[in-house]
Amino acid sequence: MTFNPELCRNESEVESKLIVHYLLPKLGYSPDTWHQEVKFGKIRLDFLAFTQKLPFTANPRSSVGLVIEAKSPRRNLDKHVSQLRNYLTSLNLAYGLLTNGKELRIYYQFADTIQLIFRCTGKDIEDRLPDIIKIIGRDFIKERLQSPQLLPQVTAKPIVAKSHRMSSMKTIAIYHNKGGVGKTTVSTNLAAALSKKGYRVLLIDIDAQANSTFATGLVKFQFEEEDDLRDRNICDLISTAEKNFVHEIVRTSQYFNNPEIDVIPAHINLIDKQSDLTTAMASRTRLLNKLKHVNNSYDVVIIDTPPSRDIYAEVALITADYLIIPSDLKPFANQGLPTVKNFIKDINENRTTFGREPIELLGVLASKISTNARFIQYTFPKQRDVIGKRYEMPLMESVIYDRTALSESFNKTIVVGEVEYPDPKSIFKYADEVNSTAQTSAMEFEILAEEVLTKIGLK
Ligand SMILES: Nc1ncnc2c1ncn2[C@@H]1O[C@H](COP(=O)(O)OP(=O)(O)OP(=O)(O)O)[C@@H](O)[C@H]1O
Ligand SMILES: [Mg+2]
Repeated sequence: MTFNPELCRNESEVESKLIVHYLLPKLGYSPDTWHQEVKFGKIRLDFLAFTQKLPFTANPRSSVGLVIEAKSPRRNLDKHVSQLRNYLTSLNLAYGLLTNGKELRIYYQFADTIQLIFRCTGKDIEDRLPDIIKIIGRDFIKERLQSPQLLPQVTAKPIVAKSHRMSSMKTIAIYHNKGGVGKTTVSTNLAAALSKKGYRVLLIDIDAQANSTFATGLVKFQFEEEDDLRDRNICDLISTAEKNFVHEIVRTSQYFNNPEIDVIPAHINLIDKQSDLTTAMASRTRLLNKLKHVNNSYDVVIIDTPPSRDIYAEVALITADYLIIPSDLKPFANQGLPTVKNFIKDINENRTTFGREPIELLGVLASKISTNARFIQYTFPKQRDVIGKRYEMPLMESVIYDRTALSESFNKTIVVGEVEYPDPKSIFKYADEVNSTAQTSAMEFEILAEEVLTKIGLK
């Protein structure tokens, strides 16, 4: 049995052809496990599918698999999301499917908010069926109900290719040899800002501390045995040329941002691999070569780097077209700048040997800057001047101020059952969901994204 979205011309055809005759059977819901038109007070659900045959225990979340809302193909699904949120939160149900036949979306509800976790066009439903089954198939939901710590994997991607994509993919390294200046905070939130604007973003973590990997929600496990990053991370990309390509290693960020972003994770095992990779000259260009295969899949690639001058920093600077140097503009960070400059010089020499243009420095980015009024009035302008005058480096116009919301969004946790899990968010999602004082910080990242887009020619 196949599905052809062309056959759904109105709401009732979406209900019968897509949902009743195609999706529900494929997802493992036999006719005795779902009901159409179910009423709870003022709420009227189009479909309610159950994980067990005896519906509705005291806790509906433990027996209901899925709420399905069908709309006419002429309706824009965006307009129905708040209604679905209302249904899922007021009845405390986990999964909602929203479709008009031309598009299908799956939302997941927890802590009174809903997150888009899957999205595809009507035409793609058939191809994406294995993914859809893994999220809302009856058996898969049942399994997750038995181990409540298992959250569904997010596979949502923006589906509309924006027309502003004229040129090919641009790669930006975020680097400074000084630690703790905000490289990871800038990498992850700049990636989030660009993704919010509709750009297709890949974030690469090439630091053994794996902080960007953590920040994008990929370290939700509590015990080493559950570590699924060890065997699929950035090391696999750079340690061999013939296999382990980007599409095999990449993950989707988890509950990090709307829309989510693609991430190549890092792992503590980068430390073990470091000396082998350093000896092999070829390891320096493998990431660059492999990224060429995904040139049409992403608009912007952002690489978060370690605070050192090692093989991983080399790979990042050889691979990137552009460089941003976050700095708190304090004396130690400043004194690291000549070393960064020399490093860039060496890298550029190296780049010419394989016909690559020098890396383009977008500038030093003032980051973690105090919001104290006197500081901003008297000290900050002097600190900014020093970058151009003494260190002869360009300074970016945007400023990332020191905002507690940024560390809070990184350190957010969620309690599921008895266990507390990391639940980090981009500053945008944090501002939307949790803390509206994060808005100011989100705006600062939005301004940074605009500056970056202009400077790399995507605007
Ligand atoms: N603008 C900011 N406002 C408030 N806190 C910040 C800001 N930027 C970074 N931080 C906090 O400072 C610490 C270091 O930041 P971050 O990890 O981004 O720096 P880094 O340069 O990547 O560090 P490393 O060199 O170790 O990789 C983190 O706890 C982070 O939450
Ligand atoms: Mg970092």
